[in-house]
Amino acid sequence: MSLLAPEALASFLDRVTASAEVELEWVDLLSQLEYVGFRKIAKAVPYDRVSLETLRHASEEASHAYLLKAAAEKNGLPPRSWREGRFSAAGWRYFQGLDRGIEAAVADPALCYPLVSVAVERRVLALYPAYLERTRIPDVRRAVERILVEERAHARLFEDRALPADAVTAAWRLEERLWAEFVPEAVALAASPG
Ligand SMILES: [Fe+2]
Ligand SMILES: [Fe+2]
Repeated sequence: MSLLAPEALASFLDRVTASAEVELEWVDLLSQLEYVGFRKIAKAVPYDRVSLETLRHASEEASHAYLLKAAAEKNGLPPRSWREGRFSAAGWRYFQGLDRGIEAAVADPALCYPLVSVAVERRVLALYPAYLERTRIPDVRRAVERILVEERAHARLFEDRALPADAVTAAWRLEERLWAEFVPEAVALAASPG
C-alpha cells in the first residue's frame, strides 16, 4: 500500500472528517499519537545521553500533542481521557505494532527510537499536508501548519544520522503494513454511531 495513492488518502481523510464530531475525534487521535511519540523519546533515550537535540525533539512532540488537543477542546471536544476516543484503540495498535516490531528487529536498542521516528515522520509528511487541505476548522489549521514546519525539521534530523539503509527500509515496510491495517479500521470507526 506504500504511502497511499493521493486518491486513497483523500478518500480516507474524507471519511475521518465526515462530520465535525468525527473530525474532532480524528484531531484527538493525532494528539494522542503525538504524545506517544513524545513518550517514545523520553523512554528510549537514556538519561545520560539526552542532548539539546533530544530535548528539542521531545518538547516539540509534546507541544504538537498539546496544540492538537487544545484546538479540539476549543471546538467542542469534551475534556476526557484518550482512552475514550473513538479512534484511540486503533491508534494504539498502530503505534505499538511499530514500536514493538522495530524493537524486535534491531539488535542495537539505540536504533529503535530513530527508526520509529523515520517511519512515523514519513507518514506524517504525507498525511498532514493532505489533511491541512481539508480541514475547515481554523484552530486546527493553525495548529497543523505550525506542526508541519517542525515535522519537516524532524525528518531532516534523522536523514543526517546515516541509519542503516536496510533497517530504514524494513521500518518503512512495517509501518506501511500497520497503516494499511489502521485505515479500514478507522474508516469503520468513523462511520459507527459514536
Ligand atoms: Fe509531531
Ligand atoms: Fe516529529
